[in-house]
Amino acid sequence: MMSTSGSITPPPKLRLSLLGAWRAQRKGWLDQFVRLQAEHGDLVELQLGRRRVFLLSDPALIHEVLALAKPVMKERGLQVNARLFLGDGLLTSQGETYKRQRQLGRPAVQAEHFPAQAAVIQDCFERTQAPWRDGESRDLARECADVTLRAAAESVLGVNFDRQLAATHAWLEEISEFARRAISNPLYFVYQHLPLPRPIRFRRARAGLNRMLEEALSASRGRPTWLGHLEAAGGELTPAQIRDLAKSVLLAGYETTANALAWTLYLISGNPGVERQLLQEFAAAPPSAATDPLPALPYTLQVVRESMRLYPPVWIVGREALTDIDLGRLQLRRGDTVYMSQYIVHRDPRHFPNPTRFDPERFASGNNHAGTTPAYFPFGAGPRSCIGKQFALQELALGLRHWLPRWRFVIDRPEPIGLDAVVTLKPLGRLRMKVFRRTA
Ligand code: HEM
Repeated sequence: MMSTSGSITPPPKLRLSLLGAWRAQRKGWLDQFVRLQAEHGDLVELQLGRRRVFLLSDPALIHEVLALAKPVMKERGLQVNARLFLGDGLLTSQGETYKRQRQLGRPAVQAEHFPAQAAVIQDCFERTQAPWRDGESRDLARECADVTLRAAAESVLGVNFDRQLAATHAWLEEISEFARRAISNPLYFVYQHLPLPRPIRFRRARAGLNRMLEEALSASRGRPTWLGHLEAAGGELTPAQIRDLAKSVLLAGYETTANALAWTLYLISGNPGVERQLLQEFAAAPPSAATDPLPALPYTLQVVRESMRLYPPVWIVGREALTDIDLGRLQLRRGDTVYMSQYIVHRDPRHFPNPTRFDPERFASGNNHAGTTPAYFPFGAGPRSCIGKQFALQELALGLRHWLPRWRFVIDRPEPIGLDAVVTLKPLGRLRMKVFRRTA
């Protein structure tokens, strides 16, 4: 913002003691950030001890930051802790290792592989719903995590994942709980090695996951899967790097898509008009919807987009300046961090009128918000945006097409579901829903 003299007005500056930061972290950053933006506007500077952190909620400037290939990198606090369990995969690597991994990772999730993957994904939705009984209550967050973990693992690794599902969930829960505590706490690097119960459980879970991936890697060797392709192309990567790259894609792909699916089913269950329109679209869709769902199911895509507006599975992204950077209103010094929250921008009434209303018509073609506004960025933007966007959208469309005509989902409790916003935005606690079998 320019002042009357033509100079740039510095953003409001707030100081937070380390104790205050610790308290904010315990209460959850999402609420704190929402409050900060509401009270102080689109650019707020926070002084956390010696560290400067900016909360940026201006869509145009967010895109400028995300477009910078250099000299910014993904936020270090998250990176450092994510590396605890992700190793040196695509999500966490930087520099040359990163470039090579991104180059290798991208083709795997591109459109030309999709018809083959579509059959695998539909089979995963079929197997996940097989044990459901008419009228019973299920934790839909868990069902969604099951199906997307299966789908990511089976498309990436090319192995049936039924036997490993329960153990993998247990490992991932242990790892996420550790990661949740470790975020922005560098002491966890030391803590993870101590002979105490929690670090021991964490190390076991991490070793279990690594072992499972290594076994799957050798089982899938030579098959026409994503990993087969990767191994053939990735001569310079070590086996551990290939394993970590697979882990990155698996983890990035499953929890985000599980959240998107769970929130979408939750929203549909409270909006019978939307549900009716979806069922009509599925009934009238051409056979190509089974292999190339997005062009065949435009309303479904609108519903998914609107669901990710209200509940963006990745609710915040961060970048750290590696040198001083001048972006006009935003003047960064080396070591500064910028946070940009999809959740805040997607719910800003200046960009999305009546923002808390679930309205898939916002994304109808011809409407201003047909997915092109810079205020909508569920998959990030710029050189480090999501490589799995198409895969995720296709999986979500196929999944809704598979489950909704077979089942009606009815939320068990009337009160709104809380938010669990750590790395991703999940429903808080269980998402209990009754499932009713539809009769023809
Ligand atoms: C609804 C589902 C998904 C959402 C909302 C989502 C969102 C995102 C976002 C916002 C980023 C950028 C993070 C940043 O800028 O710091 C990202 C990166 C990434 N996503 Fe996704 N994602 C989804 C599904 C997937 C799937 C299915 C895969 C793989 C099959 C995947 C793989 C990745 C990878 C590897 C990166 C890191 C890219 C890089 O650093 O260059 N994602 N995702």
